[in-house]
Amino acid sequence: MRTPISFLAALAPFVSAQTVPAQLFSGLIPQKVLATAKSLPAPIQYPQYTDTSVGHWLDFVPDTWTSGFFPTTLYALNTRKTLCGATPTNGLSTGDWVTLGRAASNGLIPLEAHNNQGHDVGFLSFPFVEELAINPTNQTALTAVKAFAADLAARFNPVVGCTRSWDTADPTDFTVIIDNMMNLEILWVVYGLTGNETLRNIAITHADTTMKNHIRADGGSWHVVEYNSTTGSVIRKRTSQGFSDNSTWSRGEAWGIYGFANMYKHTKDPNYLATARRMGNYFLKNLPSDGIVPWDFNAPLIPAPRPADSSAATIVATGFLLLGSLETSAAAGKVWIDAAINLLSHITTLAWRPSWQSLLSNGTVNWPANNFLTGIVYGIIALLSSCRAQSNNKRAAGDYYYIKAGNDLISMGLATCTGS
Ligand SMILES: *[C@@H]1O[C@H](CO)[C@@H](O)[C@H](O)[C@H]1NC(C)=O
Ligand SMILES: *[C@@H]1O[C@H](CO)[C@@H](O)[C@H](O)[C@H]1NC(C)=O
Ligand SMILES: *[C@@H]1O[C@H](CO)[C@@H](O)[C@H](O)[C@H]1NC(C)=O
Ligand SMILES: *[C@@H]1O[C@H](CO)[C@@H](O)[C@H](O)[C@H]1NC(C)=O
Ligand SMILES: *[C@@H]1O[C@H](CO)[C@@H](O)[C@H](O)[C@H]1NC(C)=O
Repeated sequence: MRTPISFLAALAPFVSAQTVPAQLFSGLIPQKVLATAKSLPAPIQYPQYTDTSVGHWLDFVPDTWTSGFFPTTLYALNTRKTLCGATPTNGLSTGDWVTLGRAASNGLIPLEAHNNQGHDVGFLSFPFVEELAINPTNQTALTAVKAFAADLAARFNPVVGCTRSWDTADPTDFTVIIDNMMNLEILWVVYGLTGNETLRNIAITHADTTMKNHIRADGGSWHVVEYNSTTGSVIRKRTSQGFSDNSTWSRGEAWGIYGFANMYKHTKDPNYLATARRMGNYFLKNLPSDGIVPWDFNAPLIPAPRPADSSAATIVATGFLLLGSLETSAAAGKVWIDAAINLLSHITTLAWRPSWQSLLSNGTVNWPANNFLTGIVYGIIALLSSCRAQSNNKRAAGDYYYIKAGNDLISMGLATCTGS
């Protein structure tokens, strides 16, 4: 495939050199995560987002779509300790991260038998995928990933060509959200373990249908597409968490960029690369000059300030690291990698909050539901993942996140474990 020269030039203003923020490696990260791990409620509940004033975590029962992120954060600190060692300043010697991660995962095991999370079983599987990277023969984790993949596969409708995201009162109203692109990874994980071609084909069909119906000509995206499950036709395109039906919700755009880059990683189908690029292009072209990701690209600027979404910023940064590592030329890859570092730098400046329990503030959980200006647990995991990616060419096989992106950052000399 040709190097997309035109977008390189068009995006130049957004990719001026920034340095990797040192906060990515701060000893405050393990300190905060350990304190949260030690204070998880019993019976277990999981942090999802914080209050808006002092940044204290609000905890939710295990049957919640975000429950896998905190256990995965604990595993991510183990990975960092493996990569960087424990030093007096990085704080990584304070916790036995694998033991903590395993203990925190246990509350998710009952969800294999029953949960109400629809397509989000992909997110719930993350800590078990991390466990398998450490211990590939752990039967509990193997059973969990297979059960979650089977759950998602059971939501596939061949007439529509998608897995169903949310359940609806009218079962013929088949709802698919752009976020669902992230959950396809569990199908690839279990395809890798078992060779079950059905899982792979479902992932591909879902991505192809989404590519056709969720992405606009300009590279923006609809949050929700409703299909008729009997006829397969599109009933309507709308938003749930965005500003308006035709706006582009930034976190959805970020999930899409990551998700299509990930599909390209698994298949090498150039249509996925082209889609990830188109969406990435939209994201950067619509980014305001301050480099801060707004919660929706079409939300009005007035009254200022238009709320940011730090989770969209960190998710898209990891998506850009992945995309950058997969690009067809080093020059094209550098555009995305530089953009990722830029976004991380700007969001750290805005939202790093030493006094909060979360690492970052300025998350928008759900603006229409008046839930914003919070910390967000998935923003954190994305942040951790992006820093681990910087040196994960030393990581053991089995990592499902950002291996190639990390290799590129290291080989370009852009970061070390100390952020220098
Ligand atoms: C296997 O994984 C589960 C869940 O991730 C964990 O609770 C358990 O401790 C692990 N078992 C061993 C022997 O490591
Ligand atoms: C492959 O996965 C599908 C979907 O979960 C399942 O129905 C099928 O039985 C699996 N095939 C095998 C051989 O296990
Ligand atoms: C889907 O199509 C069927 C058959 O035309 C119809 O009966 C059903 O009401 C439709 N469902 C929706 C949600 O439009
Ligand atoms: C949204 O886009 C559709 C076409 O995709 C158009 O029919 C509709 O009028 C648009 N709505 C708004 C509010 O712009
Ligand atoms: C970031 O959050 C602070 C409060 O935590 C708020 O005052 C500020 O307006 C927010 N900025 C943006 C761009 O969302």
